[in-house]
Amino acid sequence: MKRDLVSMLELTDDLPQILDLASNLKNIQTANERHEPLKDKSLAMIFEKPSTRTRVSFEVGMTQLGGHALYLSTSDLQLGRGETIADTAKVLSRYVDAIMYRGFEHSKTVELARGATVPVLNGLDDLEHPCQIVADLFTIMEKKEDLSGLKLAYLGDGNNVCNSLLLGCAMSSMNISAACPEGYYPDSGILRTAKEIGEENNVSVDVIKSPENAVSDADVIYTDVWVSMGDEAEKAVRLEVFAPYQVNEELVSRAKDDCLVMHCLPAHRGEEITNGVIDGDRSVVFDQAENRLHAQKAILVHLIG
Ligand code: CP
Ligand code: NVA
Repeated sequence: MKRDLVSMLELTDDLPQILDLASNLKNIQTANERHEPLKDKSLAMIFEKPSTRTRVSFEVGMTQLGGHALYLSTSDLQLGRGETIADTAKVLSRYVDAIMYRGFEHSKTVELARGATVPVLNGLDDLEHPCQIVADLFTIMEKKEDLSGLKLAYLGDGNNVCNSLLLGCAMSSMNISAACPEGYYPDSGILRTAKEIGEENNVSVDVIKSPENAVSDADVIYTDVWVSMGDEAEKAVRLEVFAPYQVNEELVSRAKDDCLVMHCLPAHRGEEITNGVIDGDRSVVFDQAENRLHAQKAILVHLIG
């Protein structure tokens, strides 16, 4: 049966295996060895929103694995002229071995996965960004060796990245404390599920208001933009509401001395993170960006290899 990656939850059983595979694939790539387990396989990538990292890392990843990726913008597809998601899913499934989709409503990602007979990967929607979080956990594992028992502090908007992080941390036995302003909390259903998983794994999953309390004793500080794709009309209000959640030198000094600073990028320097922090010695954001490539290669090999 085909396997999808629409939500982090679909990795409940095999996340450790995927993280190990990402590490092996990174070593193979670093040694410049040819390794083509996806020879002659094709990945269709549908984008309804812009992308730098997701687009390039998936395309380069498929090439390195011996396969091929097609970039499809919704405005170029018949999908943009009213062809249904279900029909698009059925047709693409006759040509390619997997479909990556970056869109708005999570329900559309789910619909695409339901209609497709090949694996569907969520390349970000308004609810989740699982491929990002697999790369993030891989990055933390590289830097800290063992994930279990660590504390991650997420600062800012309870958005797609925050939702998937709540699940990913709880699944990896990491404590997570998300500091978000009222009205910008993560999805309540996801939070409930993450708390249940956290309880089973003996770690805490909390959403609080105070950024200072969140970063206290943190091993990792993570932030994301205050204005996600699709939220542009709320920009002025958001910049004001989120101002106290900026990851700056003062806030970072309250965490552990060896605390990592992460950001999924693109960063809005001077808003959610200062230049001093993102370019500082705690920041691992560019390793994190590189790891999108290795982590997604692992996801692709795991799902279609
Ligand atoms: N982090 C991330 O998904 O970046 P892109 O929007 O550039 O793909
Ligand atoms: N939360 C951001 C993530 C970008 C990678 C957005 O959805 O725009």
